[in-house]
Amino acid sequence: MSTYRYPKRQELFRRAAGVIPGGIYGHFSPATLVPPSAYPFFTARAEGARFWDVDGNTFIDYMCAYGPMVMGYGAPHVEEAAEAQRRLADCTTGAAPVMVDLAELLVDMMPAADWAFFAKNGADVVNFAIMIARDATGRDKIVMIEGAYHGTTGWMQGPGHHGVIEADQHQVIRIPWNDVPAFEAVLDRHHGDVAAFISTPYHIPAFADSQMPAEGYWEKIQALCRRHNVVLIVDDIRHGFRLDMAGSSAYFGFSPDLTCLGNAMANGYPISALVGCEALKSTAARVFHTGSYWFQAVPMAAAKANLVKMGEINAPQVMLTRGALLFDAMVNIATTYGYDLKVSGVPSMPYLRIADDESLMLHQDWCAEGTRRGAYFTPHHNWFISAAHTDADIQQTLEIVDEAFKAIKGKNLPIEC
Ligand SMILES: Cc1ncc(COP(=O)(O)O)c(C=O)c1O
Repeated sequence: MSTYRYPKRQELFRRAAGVIPGGIYGHFSPATLVPPSAYPFFTARAEGARFWDVDGNTFIDYMCAYGPMVMGYGAPHVEEAAEAQRRLADCTTGAAPVMVDLAELLVDMMPAADWAFFAKNGADVVNFAIMIARDATGRDKIVMIEGAYHGTTGWMQGPGHHGVIEADQHQVIRIPWNDVPAFEAVLDRHHGDVAAFISTPYHIPAFADSQMPAEGYWEKIQALCRRHNVVLIVDDIRHGFRLDMAGSSAYFGFSPDLTCLGNAMANGYPISALVGCEALKSTAARVFHTGSYWFQAVPMAAAKANLVKMGEINAPQVMLTRGALLFDAMVNIATTYGYDLKVSGVPSMPYLRIADDESLMLHQDWCAEGTRRGAYFTPHHNWFISAAHTDADIQQTLEIVDEAFKAIKGKNLPIEC
């Protein structure tokens, strides 16, 4: 199996670095791809579960645009709905009727939704959720989980990040995941000051295994929030519609006051949503939060068509089943080469790591070898699978996985020492 080369990528990146900070910034920055030499930086075209880079190499995509692609690039049901809406109107004066359809759909689908509000990015609705919680409670403090990601606004980023000032952190208290006593201690210490508890449905730190909720965790967190009048916010932006169409809180059996949604909603069209309980609807109506493009009708039409289709095929179940097949088979292949491949989280968005390799270099190298052969694997972030990954994609991926293990075995990297 030959491995990919990226000469055109190099030339394009050289031009990009001349006119764009960092060349490519944020989560697509080559700095997040280790080693960068193994990865394509630019996508020329995408279809189904695959994309093509500027050098003409094809990749089976296990990052799915870092979450938004859920039903396949260019999925006809989404593109047709988007195109039909585009012919009518998109960014106009006045909201489109499809906004009401989409809100009704979410309210019908999700037990935690009595109303819905739309924006563009996940961080928009996380910020809105925090504003609502503060306005509803008259309190300032936010409790979040150490190592959690909720976007890049100052308060959401950990201390020490560039451009984040100390004051951004003043009202934020971080506690470990799965630590109910730590939350109780915060509620005691800051009695009457905590506006909200915010967390993802299960913990997805970068550079570390995903961690599921301990038995009874969410029940206890919910009970504490209710007892202390703290608004319970679930950041379901990454997990949402990859565990359950009714929301990840339904999957884990609890009832948040506010749920932030985004990534998988519209199969790549820019839209996010905050859904919430009746008791917070009037607060949500009076907190001013908006944006120039938040009423765009095309992403709303795309989201409506996408969510309906995902519900019809039970897309989360399709991804969970297909992912379980793939990742179980990968673990077996790893064993035949003498490696212990750890898979954590759910199979629709798992985190993978080769065990007994604290340096993570072996795992990085294995991901790089897979990517160079056409299966896009990143080493330090959870992966994603979509409902568009076919049996043929999975079969080809397993062949690449085998070759990638063979390649690292041949190099005698640190684990062998
Ligand atoms: C859990 C979580 N919260 C918030 C965000 C921020 O979303 P966005 O990048 O759309 O602002 C993300 C981004 O992927 C996320 O994974």
